[in-house]
Amino acid sequence: MAEVEINAVSKAFGKTQAVSDLSLTIGDGEFVALLGPTGAGKTTALRLVAGLEQPDTGSIRIDGRDVTGDAPADRDVAFVFQQYSLYPHLTVFENMAFALRAPTRRVPEADIRAKVQEVARLLHIETKLDNKATQLSGGQMQRVAIGRALVRSPSIYLMDEPLSSLDAKLRGELRIELKRIQVDLGATILYVTHDQTEAMTMASRIGVIEGGRLMQIGSPREIYENPINAHVAARLGQPTINLLPATLFGGAPAGAETVGARTEHLAIARGGGDVSATVKRVEHLGDQSHLHLDLAGRPVVTLADPEAGFGAGDVVSLRLNKPLFFDARGWRVAA
Ligand SMILES: Nc1ncnc2c1ncn2[C@@H]1O[C@H](COP(=O)(O)OP(=O)(O)O)[C@@H](O)[C@H]1O
Ligand SMILES: [Mg+2]
Repeated sequence: MAEVEINAVSKAFGKTQAVSDLSLTIGDGEFVALLGPTGAGKTTALRLVAGLEQPDTGSIRIDGRDVTGDAPADRDVAFVFQQYSLYPHLTVFENMAFALRAPTRRVPEADIRAKVQEVARLLHIETKLDNKATQLSGGQMQRVAIGRALVRSPSIYLMDEPLSSLDAKLRGELRIELKRIQVDLGATILYVTHDQTEAMTMASRIGVIEGGRLMQIGSPREIYENPINAHVAARLGQPTINLLPATLFGGAPAGAETVGARTEHLAIARGGGDVSATVKRVEHLGDQSHLHLDLAGRPVVTLADPEAGFGAGDVVSLRLNKPLFFDARGWRVAA
């Protein structure tokens, strides 16, 4: 594994600036997630590191070596694509062994067998090695796709939303396994996703990317608790942070136009708060409920204990507890 350095890299496709002035260092053994919506430039960023795209400006270093002009095969990276494509006529074993069989590698057959078996065990597919790739479930196929990358020991694994095609339950399981494997192997991973839960649970650092620009990078906790602007604040947290005119509540600091209230910043009571709101709808999720409120004509969504027994039409009072504040352009204002 190695350190990977992306230095002021930009890439345009015609008039579309896919990646703008991206600088990012992924430390040896680190798991960095780039989190952003569709079209943010996530795949392009990975393809630039892999050498599948050439940057217009900027450079990329792997383990201290400038690889900007190098072909993908000379960069020592392993890519897990969003659309996993296994060789359907090959067995799981042969699919996983494929990268090790490249003529330039000359890996002894016994080593290939040992490596594939080791990775298959990590991914819990060791009993499927003789199956054809087509005889697998979606979750197993995705494990094989990840396994194909893991049998190699590249400088860095580049993973492009590898769990996004799976159903929620499998996604949850593989998320935990992938994190465990990364820690066990000490693997360096640059992982891109639009799923905040994946970024929050797996990454040591999250980079929030939007319109090709890296807006903020930090630990999941830093990004969640200390977002630099309202956009980053809205990327993490479920339900999404409520952004409301600061004038609705008292006590906003100078320059604050917007108050950002996450569910933990809102205390709800049956009376006696700062402002009152009307319950529009209650969504029961089992252990907790989503409370949809109307506050002076604006929607507010927060969590409530199902035991609290709120129902549509109830008038409740809200009190803010250490919320976030933003100026007219969305930048954070100190409380
Ligand atoms: N080969 C390409 N040709 C033209 N435009 C592209 C190409 N690849 C990506 N783009 C554009 O660049 C932007 C970023 O795309 P992409 O990196 O795929 O984003 P993401 O992976 O975050 O969804 C989008 O506007 C996309 O349409
Ligand atoms: Mg993409």
